[in-house]
Parts: sequence; C-alpha cells; structure tokens
Amino acid sequence: MRRPLVAGNWKMNCDKQESADLIAALKSETLKEGVEVMIAPTFVNLAATVDHTQDAAIGVAAQNMHQSASGAYTGEISGAMLKSIGVETVILGHSERRAYFGEDEALLADKVKAALAFGMQVIFCFGEVIEDRRAGKHFDVVAAQLKGALYDLDEAAYKQIVLAYEPVWAIGTGETASPEQAQEMHAFIRSNMAERYSEQLAQDVTILYGGSVKPNNAGEIFGQPDVDGGLIGGASLKADSFAAIVNAFPV
Ligand code: 13P
Repeated sequence: MRRPLVAGNWKMNCDKQESADLIAALKSETLKEGVEVMIAPTFVNLAATVDHTQDAAIGVAAQNMHQSASGAYTGEISGAMLKSIGVETVILGHSERRAYFGEDEALLADKVKAALAFGMQVIFCFGEVIEDRRAGKHFDVVAAQLKGALYDLDEAAYKQIVLAYEPVWAIGTGETASPEQAQEMHAFIRSNMAERYSEQLAQDVTILYGGSVKPNNAGEIFGQPDVDGGLIGGASLKADSFAAIVNAFPV
C-alpha cells in the first residue's frame, strides 16, 4: 500500500559523534504522526544508529549493498550483514552510485534481487540527467531504468519496493523539480507500472521524490496526488530542517 514516507540520505556525511548528535537532535523534534521516517547513515555508523533509534519511531536504511551474500569482495557489504545488525532497508540505484561507481541497470537488477531474497525493503532510485530532460527524453530514460532493473520481477516483489524518482539535475543543486514536473513524472511512472503489471500495483506502489527538497518546498511537492514522500539529502543533515520537511507533509 502507498504510505507517506520521508527518508534522509546522509550520503558520506557525519562521523560517529556527529551521527549520534544528529539522531539525538532528531529524537527531540516532534515528528508528524502518520509519516514514516527513516535515516540512512554511512555503513560505519549503521549499527550504532540502529541502537540509538531503538526507542524512537525512526527506521534505518543502508545506502548500498553488494549483490552477493559473502565472499572475496574487498570493501563490500552484503545484505546478510545488514540484516544481522537489524537493518531491513537498503537504498539502491542512487544516481551517485550510477555516476561515480559505474552501477548500471544489470548490476542493479542483481542487487535488487539479492536484497529481496534477504527479505529487505528496497528504496530504488532513478531519474534523468539534465541533457535527457532538455532533449525531451526524460520519460523514455525513466521507463528504461525501471524496465532494466525491475521489470523482471513479479508483482509480489513490490511489497518490498519503494520507488524514488530523483532527477539528477535537482540533486544537491538547489534546483528542485517544480511540483508539476514531479507530479507529471510520478503519474507517468504509475502508468508505466500499470502497463507492465496492473492498475492495482500502479496505485499501490509508494513513489518518493528526491532532489533539493527543503522545508519551504516540501509541502507543495508532497501535496501532489502521485507523490508519496521524499528522499532528502542535504536538508536531512540538520534535525530542524528534516523535521520541518516531515512536518510539511499534508496528512
Ligand atoms: P539533495 O536533497 O541534497 O538534493 O539530495 C537528494 C538525494 O540525492 C537524496 O538521495
């Protein structure tokens, strides 16, 4: 079922103390009931974050994982390891992973399947670069990203998948998609899902928007009929702005 969700992607920010401080500050904020809240710190601070959020309604996600369960993959982390410390959600397909670490649709398809096999929830990110949008190819690009990484899956798999549309040109740039642009793409994603699967699934899947969401634009973006929440980067690194974004949710 669609559910209101706001997740903070901390990326490669916050050391041990800063993570603990940010969590403590977040716990002292009043967060709107009915909105699911999640944070994704770096791997090294994940276990401590699970501990520190035990007594709060704040979920914890990893920012990536390897597609194998274990083995000779120096520097990598598996879904089994994440599960073993109590992390049940993983962000996959982020544009920074695609751009800087060469992650493509085939690899992401494997990662998604691995995460699902571990019983994890996946927040699957995708979105076009500015050249694609200028060329009017943004719908085709998004359709290809969904098809390439997800459309092998059967319908039941989507109980464990949240989609996150993140136009690359809006990430960390301060330039956000307009509420109309976000709504237009989210509606397209649902129609594309309906073509591949069913109208029911298209209506049930949770679709987040990500890209320069701030307290002053969150309410309008979250208020769009096909936008179910947000994946927040920079503004999730301060408890008051993250809380303001959560509390901007019109529920
Ligand atoms: P910003 O909110 O900093 O634009 O980042 C968005 C993002 O990439 C979340 O995953």
